[in-house]
Amino acid sequence: MSVTQARIAVLGSANMDLVAYARVAPRRGETVTGESFRTVPGGKGANQAIAAARAGGAVAMIGAVGEDDFGARMRAALAEAGVGTDRLRTVPGPSGIAQITVDGAGHNAIVVVPGANGTVTKLTSDDEAAIGAAGALLLQLELPLEGVLAGARAARERGVRTVLTPAPARPLPGELLAAVDLLVPNEHEAAALSGESDPRAAATALLEAVPEVVVTLGEAGCLYAARGHEPLAVPALAADVVDTTAAGDTFVGALAVALGEGRAPADALGWATAASALSVERAGASSSMPHRAAIDARAA
Ligand code: ADP
Ligand code: NA
Repeated sequence: MSVTQARIAVLGSANMDLVAYARVAPRRGETVTGESFRTVPGGKGANQAIAAARAGGAVAMIGAVGEDDFGARMRAALAEAGVGTDRLRTVPGPSGIAQITVDGAGHNAIVVVPGANGTVTKLTSDDEAAIGAAGALLLQLELPLEGVLAGARAARERGVRTVLTPAPARPLPGELLAAVDLLVPNEHEAAALSGESDPRAAATALLEAVPEVVVTLGEAGCLYAARGHEPLAVPALAADVVDTTAAGDTFVGALAVALGEGRAPADALGWATAASALSVERAGASSSMPHRAAIDARAA
């Protein structure tokens, strides 16, 4: 069966993840010797863009990297995944980074320095055109709020569906929520936004602000809620978990592709659930995102 390719714009962050593994993480003033270190392209925007491209979408990334080796590597990683990088600017100064320490129990401590991401406070007319050419715009909260709002406004004016991942959690202006078509928080973000700790109650409360909500629940799957419909619970697929980093970004990228192809919510959610199950079975963030054929096989 041939499908119309989903066209997706992502306005978001690109960070180089600097990951150090140490049996015990250092405390203040302490130096510890770690076991290993690697650098991996990440950032929620770039992760969602790569996930959507691997899932079969035609994806354009809007954002910024710095004039450094990290920026060049992140641009190359996006391009290699098939993401359009014409709207990814290179700006003076450093790229965004996330310095991550992972301890022997798998817990992490993270410092994010926005760098070039912090310069994305407004959009050019070419950026707006890229949004207008898409069926959906994916937003997260790792860019300045002004930049995120500019994207949401551009999408709204052009009739483009807006999908917001409200991470990292923070209070959201009413103007932003009013422009969102689909909100995809994890259970912690849903609780922070709604003040309700129960995911069903949180989803119901969030429907007052946005027409559709998907709360992701980690190994418990996800909960879909839309105005005027009974909530739909979709269980996760059993997975041999290696690394849950960016499971949510993989889920959102695949979900946007499936919805953009016109698939019904229950079908699209099942497919995104298969994509994220595959991602948790492999180490790394962007490196663990599955291709379309693998998602189809897992979802079958
Ligand atoms: P985030 O990474 O944003 O916190 P979640 O942890 O809620 O997002 O995960 C997103 C999706 O990834 C879930 O809805 C689920 O389908 C899948 N997933 C996450 N953890 C697991 C797991 N341990 N086993 C199987 N699927 C998982
Ligand atoms: Na992974």
